[in-house]
Amino acid sequence: MTYIGTPTSRIDGRAKVTGAAKYAAEYNTQGLAHAAVVTSSIAKGRIKHIDASEALRVAGVLAVLTHENRPRMAKSDDAYKDEVAPEGSPFRPLYDDKILFNNQPIALVVAEEWEIARFAASLVRVDYDEKAHVTDLHRRRTDAVALKSGETMLSPPKPRGDAERAFGAAKVRHEAEYYVPIEHHNPMELFASTVVYERDGKLTIYDKTQGVQNVQRYVANVFEMKADDVRVVGPYMGGGFGSGLRPQYQAVLAGLAARALKRSVRLVLRRQQMYQLGYRPAMLQRIQLGATAAGTLEAITHDAVTVTSQYEDFYRQETGWSGLLYKCANAKYIHKLAKLDLATSCDMRCPSAAPGSFALESAMDELAVALKLDPLELRLRCYSDRDQNAGKPYSSKKLRECYQQGAQAFGWERRSSEPRSMREGSELVGWGMATGVWDAWQMAITVRIVLSANGHAEVACGCSDIGTGTHTIMAQVAADMLGLPLEAITIKLGDSGLPASPVEGGSWMAASVANGIATTAEAVRKELLRIAKRMPNSPLHDTAADDVALADGKLVSKRDPSRAVSITDAMRHGGVERIEQEEETSFPEYAERAHNTHSAVFAEVKVDEELGVIRVTRVVNAVAAGRILNTKTATSQIMGAVVWGIGMALHEETLIDHAFGRIMNANIAEYHVPVNADVHDIKVIFVEEPDATINPLGIKGVGEIGIVGVAAAIANAVYHATGKRVRELPITLDKLQG
Ligand code: MOS
Repeated sequence: MTYIGTPTSRIDGRAKVTGAAKYAAEYNTQGLAHAAVVTSSIAKGRIKHIDASEALRVAGVLAVLTHENRPRMAKSDDAYKDEVAPEGSPFRPLYDDKILFNNQPIALVVAEEWEIARFAASLVRVDYDEKAHVTDLHRRRTDAVALKSGETMLSPPKPRGDAERAFGAAKVRHEAEYYVPIEHHNPMELFASTVVYERDGKLTIYDKTQGVQNVQRYVANVFEMKADDVRVVGPYMGGGFGSGLRPQYQAVLAGLAARALKRSVRLVLRRQQMYQLGYRPAMLQRIQLGATAAGTLEAITHDAVTVTSQYEDFYRQETGWSGLLYKCANAKYIHKLAKLDLATSCDMRCPSAAPGSFALESAMDELAVALKLDPLELRLRCYSDRDQNAGKPYSSKKLRECYQQGAQAFGWERRSSEPRSMREGSELVGWGMATGVWDAWQMAITVRIVLSANGHAEVACGCSDIGTGTHTIMAQVAADMLGLPLEAITIKLGDSGLPASPVEGGSWMAASVANGIATTAEAVRKELLRIAKRMPNSPLHDTAADDVALADGKLVSKRDPSRAVSITDAMRHGGVERIEQEEETSFPEYAERAHNTHSAVFAEVKVDEELGVIRVTRVVNAVAAGRILNTKTATSQIMGAVVWGIGMALHEETLIDHAFGRIMNANIAEYHVPVNADVHDIKVIFVEEPDATINPLGIKGVGEIGIVGVAAAIANAVYHATGKRVRELPITLDKLQG
């Protein structure tokens, strides 16, 4: 294969850096009006009265929409349930007078200019009937509701053995509580929708989303329109990280305004408003680990309380990773939901595994200390070749190789075991490590390929490229499967009119769409062979479909490469201008095998002994994720995820003023993320992991695995440097004092 597995630069890179690639807020159309959102200043209650008169007097204001004067919206909850909606009753923007969370959209000002809309929005006066709210997880801890075990893929797994008894009887025990605060995605691109009101009332929505077809169905349902009358377009995205999996409220509000005014409308959310679109739920976790003196596990319990809204139950399998990863006969999980007066929490890069593994991998480090064992050695003694929850072997698992190659690249064998035993000038040096694990999912997908007689192919799928490089890997796979140069491939994606695709998330898109392209390319090859066989004296006249490949623009016999027909010749002879094939690819459930990606993360920190300032000077992340389609873009995924892991460990925390139930640091000046000066040496290793059964191309996906384990590796390194164990993220310098 020419392109698969190579460090191919992004095919859309030039379009992106020159500004030719357009994002949702950049589409223009005649007579475009601009909207601005008015949000609530209370967390719970009802709107008594909205006075828009002053706003309406501003020259250039076209309308102020509220729940009282908006166009019709669907009544049933079902209409608001998108493809990835959790259980519950989804939030409906501008639907009624209910206030469910602070900073909730309650009115929309539409004007000729954006500045006018935004100014007028500040003049809308609102009276409320306020009710008491609770936004503090600690206050809801005791009345949090436990999820049932083993119900769905997302419920906590069923317990095995008797974890309580085994923990009580264990020679060496560790028990502690860990905390991950609410965190936000903060993608660079603001959420935006440009709604073009077509002459016949149809809508074309340029939207920032991880799933154009998900938004299309949702908007059509909410407005009680035919799906065909709504087209959603979004081929580029300035970062989503899960915040764009569900349709966001700006699409509904811009659509309402367009329908009210019969005019095209653009709505761009402000950064502050994006903090109400969803967040990584805060998570209180209690872990118990019981071990033998030899460093094998006897018991694992993992209890978690996570945050959701009053109206929807968002949760992921936060606790299940603990019992999955290591060999242990007894495991038990309890997962409770704390319902707060906040917007519903949502997926954020490696939901469940990133926060869940922080607790588990910190606890494993503490257990290693208790056992006086090297933390890497402890992981090796607890290594499991089977999925411990499901009791199944893996389709592939090269975690051992991750440990070996990561440790070697890092120089782990030079680590001195005692805390505070390594220093450099005024800084204490610490080395920590952790394991990462994530799912290797794949979803049914449809791909269309149109091959032209001039040797050019267009590959189309309604998937998204959330910035990960989907355009590029699709072109690589298509070029290899069709035997064409990369330049001969055009990718069409991010348009709801294209063949059916799931949302882009869960790290499933690379495996899904690549195998989808392979399936459709095979149909193209078969059709080409049928045509080639009709040529006079065809060298392939007796060649079976499975014995022919596409390479270098030719159909070639695999048995005898001298027998070949060029694609162009075959199509010209056959009088065929284009071959069009569209195939759905689904992935059988591998009932007998588990499939996961894994990683081993090694981190070095240097801590100023007097000030407590932490620098993450080195990170090595060794990843096993099946076949890597593009070593360049995949490395970028892991590097970016490691940077985020640094943020999770040291910087990120959404702070709520519980008196008002309002997020205080809803901006990227006060919500801290790593900047250049925080990021030093990051080394990414991809371990060879052939996988013959997971899917025909052996792909697993790398979008999320890179963040898992990073925060724990850093926290463990901080302990090794300072002798101080911080179990509450982020590890700010005040937590190292005293
Ligand atoms: Mo990802 S958190 O599924 O976009």
